[in-house]
Amino acid sequence: MGEKPSQDTPRPRSTKTATAAMAAAGLAVLGTRRAKGAPKVFRAGLIGCGGRGNGAARDILQAGKVLGLDIKLTALADAFEHRVKGTQAGLKKSGHDIPDSHCFVGFDGYKKLIDSGVDIVLMATPPGFRPLHFETAVKAGKHTFFEKPVAVDPAGCTRMLEASKIARQKNLACVTGTIYRHHTAYLGTHKLIADGAIGRIRGGAIYYCTGRLWVRPRQPGQTDAEYMANNWYNYVQLSGDHIVEQHVHTIDVLNWFMGSHPIAATGFGWRHRRKTGNLYDELSIDYEYIDGVRIHSMCRQISGCWSSVNRHLVGEKGWTNCAGKVQLWDGTKLDIPQVKSDHSNPYVQEHVDMLRSILDGKPLDETENITHSTATAIIGRDSAYTGKRIVWEQMMKENQQLTPTPEDFETGDVGDVEDDIWPIPGGAGARKRKPRKKKAQAKK
Ligand SMILES: NC(=O)c1ccc[n+]([C@@H]2O[C@H](COP(=O)([O-])OP(=O)(O)OC[C@H]3O[C@@H](n4cnc5c(N)ncnc54)[C@H](O)[C@@H]3O)[C@@H](O)[C@H]2O)c1
Repeated sequence: MGEKPSQDTPRPRSTKTATAAMAAAGLAVLGTRRAKGAPKVFRAGLIGCGGRGNGAARDILQAGKVLGLDIKLTALADAFEHRVKGTQAGLKKSGHDIPDSHCFVGFDGYKKLIDSGVDIVLMATPPGFRPLHFETAVKAGKHTFFEKPVAVDPAGCTRMLEASKIARQKNLACVTGTIYRHHTAYLGTHKLIADGAIGRIRGGAIYYCTGRLWVRPRQPGQTDAEYMANNWYNYVQLSGDHIVEQHVHTIDVLNWFMGSHPIAATGFGWRHRRKTGNLYDELSIDYEYIDGVRIHSMCRQISGCWSSVNRHLVGEKGWTNCAGKVQLWDGTKLDIPQVKSDHSNPYVQEHVDMLRSILDGKPLDETENITHSTATAIIGRDSAYTGKRIVWEQMMKENQQLTPTPEDFETGDVGDVEDDIWPIPGGAGARKRKPRKKKAQAKK
């Protein structure tokens, strides 16, 4: 089943008894094995050497220490050379020397990294590339840690779900960076709610209201593909808009606590202040879950406004913020069950959970959950963009794909990148702001 693991990759024990004993004894068993020999080796490669990619590299190294493993970072890939070089130099300072021959630059670098002998692929590129990179990695039999979100359109979500079937056949771990599902406060609260502390959830609201994120202006000599991949956050084709790229964290908590994804969404939104790209500044979505449960979602990225990243889910007997606060209608505050973790930082804990699941021979697969949460954000966005109520099943059946596609970046044929243009609901197409240069001249 699947590709053979590399020589030093820990393998699950073959007998049922050994597996059961290992699962029951957890780390104690691994501890015994470590004491007798050298630490087990995992070779990891990183695609996307930006802020989070460097963080994920540090996190897996830290997780390796927690489990007494020898994690070797053996390959890097990024669309841009300076990004690879920066990460290579940073890792060298902490004793991880990755030779130039294992540093891959360009939009096809991911293929070379996946073929370079790694056991685990860490993915922290813009999410528009995730379905292509994930599919390639699992087809090659690699365990994956991939950042949220996992797609920008329904076609990307379908691709993730299809690739996940291959991952399951090959017994591969697929863990994502949603953090909260590995965070003790959220895990404890989820347990309490799942045990019925506030009864069934009947409604609520979720928020991701913050200031603006970054813009990376066009640099001289950049191709359209390079400009777009560098300024990726500001293009729906690469980030999915901020409801997908940022709010997916909160949406993922919502779906987790609801136990499912919504069946439909109706939303609206607008763009007020952005200068480049094609994103909205704010989106307000009414999510419909089964049994008539409605959840309001609001997300905004305008500096100088009210900020909040939070959740307020209302049950029959009380309410919760999903993160350590559960209160009954008579005012009683309930104690949150303690959940043990190996590391206080959930970013590290995600990697501990991934590595341990591989060692235990029961690889964690979080693909469906995060894909559904990504699709939940997408259905809300597309409802706001079109002004229509969108039904989940219909959206997934239509399977729309945004262009340029991830493959277009490899050919370089991304078309003309248009800035400051955004969709108008109601079938009116897209609107382009008047060039600011003319406005400035008019003022003079
Ligand atoms: N879990 C979290 O809390 C968290 C926090 C930050 C970011 N993220 C996620 O991590 C991902 C990356 O975000 P970031 O903040 O590190 O962005 P970033 O811009 O700092 O890094 C992205 C990197 O990907 C590279 N890249 C772009 N296209 C590529 C391609 N086709 N192939 C290879 N490399 C490519 C860029 O050059 C850049 O180095 C996003 O999905 C983001 O949502 C998650």
